[in-house]
Amino acid sequence: MKKVFIETYGCQMNVVDSETVMAILAAEGFARAESTTDADVVLINTCSIRDGAEQRIWHRLDELGALKKRRKGMIIGLIGCMAERLADRILEQRPMVDLVAGPDSYRSLPKLVAGATDGAKGVNVELSKEETYAELSPVRLDSSGVSAFVAIMRGCNNFCSYCVVPYTRGRERSRDPETILREVRELFAAGYREVTLLGQNVNSYLHEDVTFPELLRRVAATDPKLRVRFATSHPKDISDELIAVIAKTPNICRAIHLPAQSGSSRMLEKMNRKYTREWYLERISAIRRAMPDCAISTDLIAGFCGETPDDHAATLSLMREVGYEFAFMFKYSEREGTLAAREMPDDVPDEVKTARLTEIIELQNELSLQSNRRDIGREFEILVEGLSKRSPDRVFGRTSQNKVVVIPRTTKTGHNLQPGDYTKVRITTCTSATLQGEEV
Ligand code: SAH
Ligand code: SF4
Ligand code: F3S
Repeated sequence: MKKVFIETYGCQMNVVDSETVMAILAAEGFARAESTTDADVVLINTCSIRDGAEQRIWHRLDELGALKKRRKGMIIGLIGCMAERLADRILEQRPMVDLVAGPDSYRSLPKLVAGATDGAKGVNVELSKEETYAELSPVRLDSSGVSAFVAIMRGCNNFCSYCVVPYTRGRERSRDPETILREVRELFAAGYREVTLLGQNVNSYLHEDVTFPELLRRVAATDPKLRVRFATSHPKDISDELIAVIAKTPNICRAIHLPAQSGSSRMLEKMNRKYTREWYLERISAIRRAMPDCAISTDLIAGFCGETPDDHAATLSLMREVGYEFAFMFKYSEREGTLAAREMPDDVPDEVKTARLTEIIELQNELSLQSNRRDIGREFEILVEGLSKRSPDRVFGRTSQNKVVVIPRTTKTGHNLQPGDYTKVRITTCTSATLQGEEV
């Protein structure tokens, strides 16, 4: 039996894709390897979102090439977004790569691996308008057994001017809701207590007449003890109906990730985000009116083409105005083939990008700390996920707001908390990254 190891880079969608790839290969008799050193086949699931992500993969391929020299017959495959984007260049420049498969061609992996075993280099980077891997049950690779990602749609039609994803993942398509609900019910029966519905733009989900709010309602109806999260939402599709469904369903979590990218309407227009600062802030107010306890997080880009000190100041003021709980923050990285790369000069000097990013990160640390301080003395229900990394007599879990809370493992009744348990806690202390609490 051949053993396969999959190494995953990039976003949560890549995590599920690796699990789907494992399901496809397991059905053909492949077993899971624990590491690259006991694998016959090593697959690298790659990301292209920023140049740094791709540089890491080029280096990683050199390391694996050295390993392959010592282990004759080992097969190295490149899959994911960078495989889609750079198939030819990779095969030309990295002879250790035996096969390349893009995000929509994973069903051909058994064939590509068989071909590579016979010495043929295989490539399949065809994108599809239909593929959703709908009926496959992903093999959970790195899971606590409590929380799982469920892909509900693939691709992206938004073409934000800086972004490579529409090119690497193709057009948007939504998965059959029946297959989603079946997967969620199976996860619950296997002991999972949280699912995160995934897509590049989950809230534009549409399958025949099933919209995203309707899908969310159906998934949450699986069981009140199942927590439901979703990512990522595009601000243009955060409708009143969606907000209302979240607000009236207690097991849909009070946490919305709503990437703003910039606080300047001028930048948003150049980014082709299809909303203004004012429109974004109005959506935040709508969320806050319906759910005052809802956490809001974001993605921000520093130093996009033509960004002035005023545009940057607008991003900082947006952050303060919203008071984000959490943010992913990036320096703009030009991506070949995007509208920005074709038509807008990447004219903010790197040291200015770095300085602006540092300011953004420092402000976010302050905002996260303020938000955590407001939680001190408050009570939350957490879902326990596992042992704390720092100390074996403490466990960690998350609040509905997606904040990590660390509490003593042994309850007042002498019972040891297990992953998958729900428990009520009161927050006692915090840092900007975590909350500490006690059972109530
Ligand atoms: N579909 C999601 C996330 C896509 S990628 C969304 O639309 O929000 C995750 C984040 O990477 C983006 O939100 C953006 O902040 C960042 N990103 C995308 N392209 C980038 C680029 N060229 N340079 C820097 N950051 C980028
Ligand atoms: Fe990229 Fe925009 Fe699509 Fe998100 S919505 S994946 S940022 S093009
Ligand atoms: Fe990266 Fe592709 Fe995800 S570019 S962020 S792995 S969609």
